[in-house]
Amino acid sequence: MMDKEQVMSVRPLAADPSGSDDEEATEHSNKLIQRRRWARFGFSISICILVICALATALSLTVFNIKDPIVTTNVFKVTKLVLIYRRTLPAPGTNISLVVDMSVKNRNMVSFKYDNTTTTWYYHGIEIGEAEGPAGLVKARRTARMNVTVVASADQISTYPDVIDDLSSGLLTLSSYSRIPGRVQVFSKKKHFDLRINCTITFNISSQAIKEQECMS
Ligand SMILES: *[C@@H]1O[C@H](CO)[C@@H](O)[C@H](O)[C@H]1NC(C)=O
Ligand SMILES: *[C@@H]1O[C@H](CO)[C@@H](O)[C@H](O)[C@H]1NC(C)=O
Ligand SMILES: *[C@@H]1O[C@H](CO)[C@@H](O)[C@H](O)[C@H]1NC(C)=O
Ligand SMILES: *[C@@H]1O[C@H](CO)[C@@H](O)[C@H](O)[C@H]1NC(C)=O
Ligand SMILES: *[C@@H]1O[C@H](CO)[C@@H](O)[C@H](O)[C@H]1NC(C)=O
Repeated sequence: MMDKEQVMSVRPLAADPSGSDDEEATEHSNKLIQRRRWARFGFSISICILVICALATALSLTVFNIKDPIVTTNVFKVTKLVLIYRRTLPAPGTNISLVVDMSVKNRNMVSFKYDNTTTTWYYHGIEIGEAEGPAGLVKARRTARMNVTVVASADQISTYPDVIDDLSSGLLTLSSYSRIPGRVQVFSKKKHFDLRINCTITFNISSQAIKEQECMS
C-alpha cells in the first residue's frame, strides 16, 4: 500500500513537469527567435563589413594606387640647319633647332599635373642649349604630347674638338636630357614625380634624317 501511495503521489509530480515544459518551450522558442534575430543582425553587419572591405580594396587598387606616369620620346627633328661646303658643314652664325616630341602617359584615375619642363642638349657632354616647356596637366588615363624646341648655335658646336671627326663622318651625335616634374593627388594623398628621360641621337648632317635614337627613362 505504502508503495502504491508513493507511486500515486509520484505521478502528479511526474505530470507537473509536463506543464512547465510548455512554458519552457515558449521560453525556448522566444530565445530561439531572439537568437535568430541576433544572427540575422550579425549577418547583416558582416555583409556590410565585407562590402566596405571590398570597396576599400577596390579603391586602394584603383584610385588610390598611384602609378608612375610614363614618359617616352616619339620623334626627334633637326630643323633650320643651314649647311655649306656641299652640305657638309653647318654655316657659321646660324642656329640649329632640335625638336623633341615627347609623350606622357598617365595611368592614374586622376590627372597628373606637371610644372615647367626642361630639355637640355649636350654635345659630347658639353651643354649646347636648353629650353623650357610650359606647365600643364595630363588627364586621367590619357596621354599628352609635348614638343620642346632647343636652339643651339652652330658656331658654338664648331668650336669643340670632336666636331671635325663627326663632320667628316657625315654624322652628328647629340644627347638630350628632359625633366618633367609633377604630381598626382588623390584627396590628401599626394605623390611627387620627377620624370626624366635621356636620349642619344645620331643624325645625318646632309639629309638631317635621324639615323639612330636611343632613350633611357
Ligand atoms: C640664334 O640664336 C640666338 C640665341 O637664341 C639669337 O640671338 C640669334 O639671333 C639666332 N641667330 C639666327 C641666325 O637665327
Ligand atoms: C614656368 O614658365 C613660365 C613661363 O615661361 C614662367 O613665367 C614661370 O616662372 C615658370 N615657372 C617655374 C616654376 O619655373
Ligand atoms: C609636335 O610636333 C609634331 C611634328 O614635329 C607635330 O606633328 C605635333 O602636332 C606637335 N605636337 C604638339 C602638341 O605641338
Ligand atoms: C641623364 O643625363 C643627365 C645629364 O647628363 C645625368 O645627370 C643623368 O644621370 C642621366 N640619367 C640617366 C638615367 O642616364
Ligand atoms: C646621309 O644621307 C645622304 C642622303 O640621304 C646619303 O647619301 C649619305 O650616305 C648619308 N650618310 C651617312 C653617313 O649615312
